[in-house]
Amino acid sequence: MHTISHYQELVSAHFKALSFDKEPKNLYEPIQYILSLGGKRLRPVLTLMATEVFDADCKKALSAATAVEVFHNFSLIHDDIMDDAPLRRGNETVHEKWNINTGILSGDAMLILAYQFFENYEPKVFRELAKLFSKTALEVCEGQQYDVDFETRDDVTIAEYLKMIEYKTAVLVGAAMKMGAIVAETSEEHANLIYDFGLNLGLAFQLQDDYLDAFGNPETFGKQVGGDIIENKKTYLYLKALEFASADKKEQLLHLFSIQPNDNRDKIASVKEIFNQTGASKATQTAIAEFTSKAFAKLEKMQIGDDKKEILKAFGENLMNRNV
Ligand code: IPE
Ligand code: IPE
Ligand code: MG
Ligand code: MG
Ligand code: MG
Repeated sequence: MHTISHYQELVSAHFKALSFDKEPKNLYEPIQYILSLGGKRLRPVLTLMATEVFDADCKKALSAATAVEVFHNFSLIHDDIMDDAPLRRGNETVHEKWNINTGILSGDAMLILAYQFFENYEPKVFRELAKLFSKTALEVCEGQQYDVDFETRDDVTIAEYLKMIEYKTAVLVGAAMKMGAIVAETSEEHANLIYDFGLNLGLAFQLQDDYLDAFGNPETFGKQVGGDIIENKKTYLYLKALEFASADKKEQLLHLFSIQPNDNRDKIASVKEIFNQTGASKATQTAIAEFTSKAFAKLEKMQIGDDKKEILKAFGENLMNRNV
């Protein structure tokens, strides 16, 4: 197995060489655009790493890794429409730069393009990858629908929230890793354990995403800070704040999440203050660490070398400490 930066460099070079320069321009340019903005490339790196954890050459997994990243970028284009987000990776979102219809159709095309990358595998591996991908993609849609449904509900529970983030985010992280296991043709037990590792890491990852959405540095975050507060998203921060708040504060928070001011600056500042004062921010940090440890516990059940476990752990720890 190689260092994390080795896999990152491979993925980065691979995407640099990938081109969707075709006609009609208004369909393919947004695809080139979103992919060229990069991002962390977390999921394809995990696919390559998982392949080598199970002793196969990670180059065999490049097509599956590409499929996962193209799918992820498709989901971001549609997510930004749904969340009315102006910024992605420090740049204009696709629907702002072009328009909503372009975002819908270029996104649709990306979903198909993602699928096509599986055609590079032999029937047995192809079937397993396609099956996992279809199941995962449908779960992402379900998670995204829950996320939107929760915006207008005031009785969302922590259990419902956790299910929602499992579906919208964590299953894809799990699947990215399981695809590496499928390409490596390892045992089903190992494939499922690496999926569970990815799933728990994915839960921690989405909790951190929620945290950064409120408390990230606007200079470096690359997305609109406070976007979740503007959209009344029922995040862990919000749900824990409601749970911990005094009656007064609870009422204030419920009120803030029922209004749609023209200028959101005061709303964002007040909500963040409540998140901090109630201990919701701390509780979120604790939950991030807990799901990360849960992920690490899955590694202990795997019959792989300690050196490999250490690399996967280092990846998880880096994720926990990220600020983008
Ligand atoms: C953003 O994913 C969407 C979530 C599931 C939180 P990333 O944070 O991985 O986005 P990029 O690809 O690095 O920009
Ligand atoms: C995104 O969740 C999940 C998917 C894209 C499927 P968010 O809406 O929190 O992601 P960001 O914060 O916009 O990246
Ligand atoms: Mg979003
Ligand atoms: Mg969203
Ligand atoms: Mg977010």
